Amino acid sequence: MCFDNRASAIISSKLGRLLDDVGKLAAAVRDKGFTHGVKFAWAAILSRLHLRVDARFDAKYGVDTFGAIPLDNLSVASQNKRFAESYSPSHTLAIKRVLARLPIDHRDFDFVDFGSGKGKVVLMAAMYPYRRVVGVEFALELHDTACENIEAFPAKERKAKEVQSIIMDAATFAIPPDNCVFYFYDPFGTAVLSKIVDKMAASHEKHRQKIYVIYYEPDYKPERVALLDNADFLRRWRPPRRLAPAMLPAVQNTVFFESIS
Ligand SMILES: C[S@@+](CC[C@H](N)C(=O)[O-])C[C@H]1O[C@@H](n2cnc3c(N)ncnc32)[C@H](O)[C@@H]1O
Repeated sequence: MCFDNRASAIISSKLGRLLDDVGKLAAAVRDKGFTHGVKFAWAAILSRLHLRVDARFDAKYGVDTFGAIPLDNLSVASQNKRFAESYSPSHTLAIKRVLARLPIDHRDFDFVDFGSGKGKVVLMAAMYPYRRVVGVEFALELHDTACENIEAFPAKERKAKEVQSIIMDAATFAIPPDNCVFYFYDPFGTAVLSKIVDKMAASHEKHRQKIYVIYYEPDYKPERVALLDNADFLRRWRPPRRLAPAMLPAVQNTVFFESIS
């Protein structure tokens, strides 16, 4: 295809999308009023922004974390597949800010992503000098991609001592006796989460390690986050500074917990 044809194809596809958006916005304003229309437009802009930045993350670091993947056709050797959410990566813009706000000396902490998929958050956490960054994933194909991503990730970006993806059911992961940051991007239902919270509580009772829990997108199924709210060894923790401008709801849709010493 010559340059002119390619340029006009790009322009007409962008124009088509713009017209489509304008049509949807007009329908939203007509049906539900101006405020709803503005919220709708803002959500659409944000979602596009996130997708662009996420795609750029992969291009920049030579990895493959993008895209939503249902678990139906993936190899999972666990009964807990029925409680699992599909793969989709955390948004780069949100997680960058979330990880930057933890008030810890990373060299004294392990980082664990429960349900780590292709390892996006594992890679982002590995940019800090954690002792150990671990992704726990039970779908073989996602774990394999995560291993390739860890391998491909530029050495100069990696500050963590040890970085790995482990193929296993998160419910059977042994809680480290050391200080830990535990990350969840709403990976599974309460049947699995409650087992992990119980294991964390038992480990904390025994070792008194410092624990931070980050739960991304807590509003989808509030009963899941309620398990953390009801855990005696945890309390909600608010970052000292605002995480991000109000315009980044994905960041605001993150809750933090810390262990009570
Ligand atoms: C929403 S994705 C989050 C991916 C990654 N944490 C991120 O933020 O980019 C949820 C992941 O949890 C995994 N998962 C769900 N249940 C699991 C379980 N019991 N054990 C291990 N992984 C699980 C799914 O296969 C999926 O990859």
